[in-house]
Amino acid sequence: MKAAITTTAKYLPEEVMSNLDLERILDTNDEWIRARTGIRERRILRDTEKPTSFMCTEVAKTLLEKRGISADEIDLIIVATMSPDMVFPATACLVQGNIQAKNAWGFDLSAACSGFLYGLHTGAQFIESGNCKKVMVIGADKMSAILDYTDRSTAILFGDGAAGVILEPASEEGYGVLDVRLYADGANGRNHLLMPAGGSLHPASHETVDNHMHFIKQDGKQVFKAAVMAMADVAEEIMQRNNLTADTIDYLVPHQANQRIIQATADRMGITMEKVMMNIEYYGNTTAATVPICLAELDEQGKLHHGSNLVLASFGAGYTWGAIYIKWQ
Ligand code: UT7
Repeated sequence: MKAAITTTAKYLPEEVMSNLDLERILDTNDEWIRARTGIRERRILRDTEKPTSFMCTEVAKTLLEKRGISADEIDLIIVATMSPDMVFPATACLVQGNIQAKNAWGFDLSAACSGFLYGLHTGAQFIESGNCKKVMVIGADKMSAILDYTDRSTAILFGDGAAGVILEPASEEGYGVLDVRLYADGANGRNHLLMPAGGSLHPASHETVDNHMHFIKQDGKQVFKAAVMAMADVAEEIMQRNNLTADTIDYLVPHQANQRIIQATADRMGITMEKVMMNIEYYGNTTAATVPICLAELDEQGKLHHGSNLVLASFGAGYTWGAIYIKWQ
């Protein structure tokens, strides 16, 4: 039996940071940001006492409430993030403790912007094997904690947010997470999008702090080229493998890094933008949270029906990328 998403939830901080707000601190402008990325504003969780686990816990509580179950029923919690509260313990353990999911085990998954897709595939395996009955998969990133607000090439792109799903055995054959293609390319990706320090290669030192090495570094042009190619290729591949056509796909749910990357993927798939879930304008790139936020919003808007065909697609640091085909239960 396949795994199906039975519940979705999201958490976005209330504070809005607009392009105009960024104009005040950086040599940038609203017109450039909107034209090159599609972003108008993003959410920021300024409170330093509220880390990534706080956002995940909010999502987890909403998931339990919406599903009408107690935390005891959760078997596994997977948190996809590249901005964990700490290197260890895992954010998943903090969430498990916060919601008192005493029968759950959990771990963090590091695949940057593809983290939710990697997590969904991983969680689905535990359902399909019969090992777990209820798995929470959460994608969350407090990007404001690792952004260099003196670097206009990255600071404008990202925002904070979290969202997640509960996975359970599908109630009917032919529904749920039906096909997955995931990829990685560390040989080409490792130097183009990274946070250089804070791990065992460059442990924190005065030098790493002085050189801004605890912040995101990105070679935007390189990543852009790789993303356009890879996301379109993998979306096309998943369509072909599952005999999906532009007409039979209900929604493309893409990672929200840049509206031009999303448009290129939609073009290759031959689908019109009405079938593309896009909220980059309001949240920017929330890294592991973009795809589950999109899912949660489609769900809230009542757009997901029994039998809806969804293609999820992502690309991010690593490089990591992939696509997942879901027939909504
Ligand atoms: O989610 C993880 C994966 N990440 C991505 O998928 C991101 C991929 N990359 C991108 O989305 C784009 O490369 C960016 C949005 C990051 C940059 O867009 P671009 O069209 O590639 O711009 P660019 O870096 O080539 O810069 C063009 C110009 C440069 O000026 P010159 O050299 O042409 O005079 C930059 O200095 O724009 C300038 N620029 C800016 N101007 C105003 C760069 N950043 C800014 C800025 N505001 N924030």
